[in-house]
Parts: sequence; C-alpha cells; structure tokens
Amino acid sequence: MKRIAVLTSGGDAPGMNAAIRSVVRVGIEAKMDVYGVNRGYAGLVGGSFVQLRARDVSGILEKGGSFLQSARCPEFKTEEGQMKALHMLRENGIEGLVVIGGNGSQTGSYALSKRGFPVVGIASTIDNDLYGSDITIGVDTALNVILEAIDRLKITASSHERAFVIEVMGRDCGYLALMAGIAGGAEAVIIPEVETDPELVAGEIRSAYERGKNHALVVVAEGAKYNATKLATYFSDNHERLGFELRVTILGHVQRGGTPSAFDRILASRLGEAAVEALADGEIGVLVGLANDRIVRTPLEVVNSRKKSLDPRVVKLATVLAK
Ligand code: ADP
Ligand code: F6P
Repeated sequence: MKRIAVLTSGGDAPGMNAAIRSVVRVGIEAKMDVYGVNRGYAGLVGGSFVQLRARDVSGILEKGGSFLQSARCPEFKTEEGQMKALHMLRENGIEGLVVIGGNGSQTGSYALSKRGFPVVGIASTIDNDLYGSDITIGVDTALNVILEAIDRLKITASSHERAFVIEVMGRDCGYLALMAGIAGGAEAVIIPEVETDPELVAGEIRSAYERGKNHALVVVAEGAKYNATKLATYFSDNHERLGFELRVTILGHVQRGGTPSAFDRILASRLGEAAVEALADGEIGVLVGLANDRIVRTPLEVVNSRKKSLDPRVVKLATVLAK
C-alpha cells in the first residue's frame, strides 16, 4: 500500500493529534504517502485531502482537539454519501484509510469496509463506549479534567455543608461517571447502566451527613434517566420532605478540551503505529485498540455488533468506597 489517508470523526478527543502524527510519521517510515482528510467524513464526501509530511505534524502532540478538525456528517450515513466518499478516495488514489473516532465513526468505517474499501479504525472517544479497546484515546485526559472540577467542588461543598451534583459526559455510557466517582470520592454515582431511585440518592446523602461528612457529591452520567437537571428538580420539588437541595454543575464540553495526558499521548502514538501496520499487513476492516496492555485488532463487524459493558465489580466498588 503506497498512499493512505487519515481522518478524525465524531466528538474530538484529547490525543487525536498524537494519533494523526503517529500515522503520518510511521506511514512515511513505511514509504507511504500520507494524506489528511479535513473535517472527518464531511471532508471525505467533499474530497478535502491534503498531503501531510513529517514537519506538517510538528507541534500538535501536546494540543487537544484535532488539527484536521472533526465533524458529524449526516450525509455519510446515506448510501449516496458513502458512494461519493468512495469516489473521492479512488479519485485521489488513496488505497487505505485510517478513521480515528468513536462508536458512530467506526460504524461509518465499517460501512466503507463493507463496500470493499480498506479501512482501519483507531479507538478514540472520551466516552469509552467502544467495543474492542479496554480504554480509548481521550478518556484519561477527560477524567483528569473531571477530577479537577470535583476536587474544587468538594472544597466549596465542605465550606457550606452543601450537596452538589456534577454531570459528566459519556452519552449512553456510565464509564466516565463511574471512574470519576471512584477517583473523586463521590458519595453517590448515577449511571445509565443501573436504575436509580432519587429517594435512594437522598438516603445516601443523608447518611453521609449522619456519618460525619460535611459535604455530599453526586456524580451523574448525562445518559442516566435522572440526569443532573432532573435529579435537582426532584430534590427541589420534594425539598420540605427531603430537607436539602442539590446544586448543579454540568461540566459539558470542557471535558473534551484538556491537554492530552501522557497516557493518552502514548496510547494514541501506539495505536497510530498499529493502524499503519494493519494496513501494510493487508489486515483491513479492523479496529486497533488496547486489551490487557497489548495492541489488538478486532474486526469492525465485531466492534459494531457488540456492546462494551462496565465491570460489575467496579460498579460495586464505587458503592463500597462511598461509605
Ligand atoms: P462518535 O464517533 O464520537 O461516536 P458520532 O456518533 O456523531 O460520533 O458519529 C460520527 C460520524 O460517523 C457521523 O456524523 C456520521 O458521519 C458517521 N456515522 C455514524 N453512524 C453511522 C452509520 N450508521 N453509518 C454510516 N456512518 C455513520
Ligand atoms: O461522544 C463524545 C461526546 O462528548 C459525548 O460524551 C456527548 O454526549 C457528545 O459527544 C456531545 O456531542 P456534541 O459535541 O455534538 O454536542
């Protein structure tokens, strides 16, 4: 394979730049010409390719986001959009494509692969909801951003003996909330994977105060049935009976914009190399990810047909540690 392209798609994740840099430099080392596609699948459909040389990816390793830019591209979900993308790839002489992105993006890469184009995916999303990698690029940095916020909220919560709820991202997956709850010492964690009754949350907060705590912090995943807004509304509607209210912090996109941690830069660099190697080996239609600290290739078909689940022991641990 002599000419490959790389794109970033979906929600940006800290470390995407390190992955692009790795694909470019490892590709060049393997005597390939490497092209960047601007704005994810939108750039593919529109034919926006630019050749990247080693110096073009200087100074991006330490930056969050994606210097190629990312996008959500509804057109690419259609047959017409995919046929346009294939046409552009062939017109530009591209023989293999690396797709850096999360769940939706890898559904897109599978669609291209099913149409016969050689694609390798790199597991990258802060949500950590992608089957085929224990951890995805961006999760570690996002968690550290969340922890900084939790640590700060705890300080003000303690000064005022207040209860706070902090909402984190993750789409339908509770991974970020669960891990942030454990690492941040939350009194309760609410995730989509476990049905939660607000009355039980109130009980946990009350019992935390009874055990002598001077603050209470609830971490909730945005995809939970009771997200931060709904939980706070429930508490204020039942204020007299419950005896306290919840102050809400919704972290939002700040979680995606962190400076990539050492872990994310290294993971991204390793996965970039693995993606080029898979293309060079002719093992196409796979996602490269990390399993038990080893790089693994998982067929995109498997990635797209399985759901990654949370470890129930870790879910239990969060409850035990909250005591
Ligand atoms: P993420 O990759 O972060 O999960 P999205 O779910 O928004 O982000 O997906 C990113 C892009 O991947 C979409 O805008 C679309 O272009 C492409 N994509 C998502 N789902 C599909 C699908 N079912 N078929 C083809 N392309 C898809
Ligand atoms: O997939 C990453 C993610 O940040 C999710 O956690 C979140 O639900 C979504 O993207 C937000 O999407 P947007 O940036 O389009 O608002």
